[in-house]
Amino acid sequence: MSQNDVTEAGLVENFVSNLLKTKNPDDMLAQSKETGLKKTLNWVDLIILGIGAVIGAGIFSMVGSAVVGTPGHPGAGPALIISMIIAAIACIFSALCYAEFASMIPVSGGVYTYTFATMGELAAWMVGWVLMLQYTIGNIAVACSWTGYLLQFLRGFEPYTAHLPAALQGLTHHIMYPPLWLVNDYATAKEAYLKMGLNPADHIPHLLGFIPFSVNVPAILMILLVTSILVKGISESKNMAGIMVIIKLVVIGLFIGVGAFYVKPDNWTPFMPNGIGSVLISAFTIFFAYTGFDAISTAAEETKNPQKDIPIGIIGTLVLCTIVYIFVALVLTGVVRWDAINIHAPIAHAMQMTGQGWVAGLISVGALTGLTSVLLVMQLAATRILFSMARDNFFPSILKKVHPVYKTPHVITWVVGIAMVIGCMFLDLNLAAQLCIFSVFTSFIIVCVGVLILRKTDPERHRPFKVPFSPWFPAMGIILCGGLMVVAITSMGKTALLFPLWLAIGVGIYAGYGYKRNRRIERIEEKRQSNKEAREQASLSKYE
Ligand code: ALA
Repeated sequence: MSQNDVTEAGLVENFVSNLLKTKNPDDMLAQSKETGLKKTLNWVDLIILGIGAVIGAGIFSMVGSAVVGTPGHPGAGPALIISMIIAAIACIFSALCYAEFASMIPVSGGVYTYTFATMGELAAWMVGWVLMLQYTIGNIAVACSWTGYLLQFLRGFEPYTAHLPAALQGLTHHIMYPPLWLVNDYATAKEAYLKMGLNPADHIPHLLGFIPFSVNVPAILMILLVTSILVKGISESKNMAGIMVIIKLVVIGLFIGVGAFYVKPDNWTPFMPNGIGSVLISAFTIFFAYTGFDAISTAAEETKNPQKDIPIGIIGTLVLCTIVYIFVALVLTGVVRWDAINIHAPIAHAMQMTGQGWVAGLISVGALTGLTSVLLVMQLAATRILFSMARDNFFPSILKKVHPVYKTPHVITWVVGIAMVIGCMFLDLNLAAQLCIFSVFTSFIIVCVGVLILRKTDPERHRPFKVPFSPWFPAMGIILCGGLMVVAITSMGKTALLFPLWLAIGVGIYAGYGYKRNRRIERIEEKRQSNKEAREQASLSKYE
């Protein structure tokens, strides 16, 4: 038998026990101390990071579809507030579970790490794989929506440029209305041209005469900018996120403060124009607006006092965002009748309806800023999860590299950035957002299950924060997220098929690479250990 045969045979030995092999949380903590990530964050920073990741496309744009509805899915109307509360409750149970885990095992990697401690290697890989989809693909949706707001913002200058000299006007006009193929992926551009009754082939350029070229340039530039900021360092990212969070909160505060004077309570009736079913579907849609607080747990390794700061950061973010969202929903549906709300830029449009055009303009700036901070924090989370996966030998070692000066995982950060750029070229905004929501539900359910498992398997472990009323609260998280997922599956045919496809690709990569690599590394470790013992034995017998 050749050496290779032995190795291959070894790979399949103890197959099931390898798949279920869990990592000891103490080993994880020890390993995290060796990686040298800088510890700079406190709970205020975490809340800033959290709000940075949470308040974005959901409340600035998807809220419109949640109220009015989309073809085939009637909206919740003024009952949006109920949808928001349902979504917030579904999140709060998972948030408490996140807080228990993150304070107990404060290492980068979030739910991926917790799964490794509770459900074993295969489940951990799959969760990491799902999280990659959540953060990376979700960010592609946010980047596409960023372009949308940029165009909206530039359009606001139209009345002023009309007075410019003709030559300049042409130039400005060109900037304001870039060709569709420069601000959209190919499928979206093609659809938009067809909608206008134009032949896409006449307008979209072709490379080498036959490859259609349509790229969302602003989104790509934004992703590259965010990637460079993240490579530079988490402190820089934190400062940037801080400024952006303040801007977006001021803008939302302005909307609530100014809008409150224009609320007509009559607009709140009928309260639930399309029945309870529409409220549940809207809860699913608006769920996107709450996602992102989990990103806080991935920064645990860079937090000064994770046991205390992480629970405060996670729960504080969720509570603050829920309060803000409820006020936004009340004002939005109070200012404009529910079926007259604009679905592309609902908040800015509502302000326009009050005659406060200047607030509408500021809201566009706030939306752009808000989306940028979401991009920043979500990409930060994606890189930290991949970093943990690389540390667990699921990826080649080069991805584990930490930058000697900036102390950031720069290789991974670029890999994620480039993957997003490629995704931006091919993915459509809605598809990306829906795939992201599926992943979020999956990870929320897993973190609730994980808490229940670890309470049984490791009851003595010190838990600086404990989910109250366990097992009921984690069970509620599982039921609510699972229920909303079922609503989602029934309402989204195409995505419901793509998600399992993504999972299947994940299983394939694990079987073909991650599983084998881990077994080989284990064998090398075992050999090294037995050689060391043999050497020690030999030197002992020399003295005897
Ligand atoms: N919650 C984030 C947003 O709404 C993802 O953009």
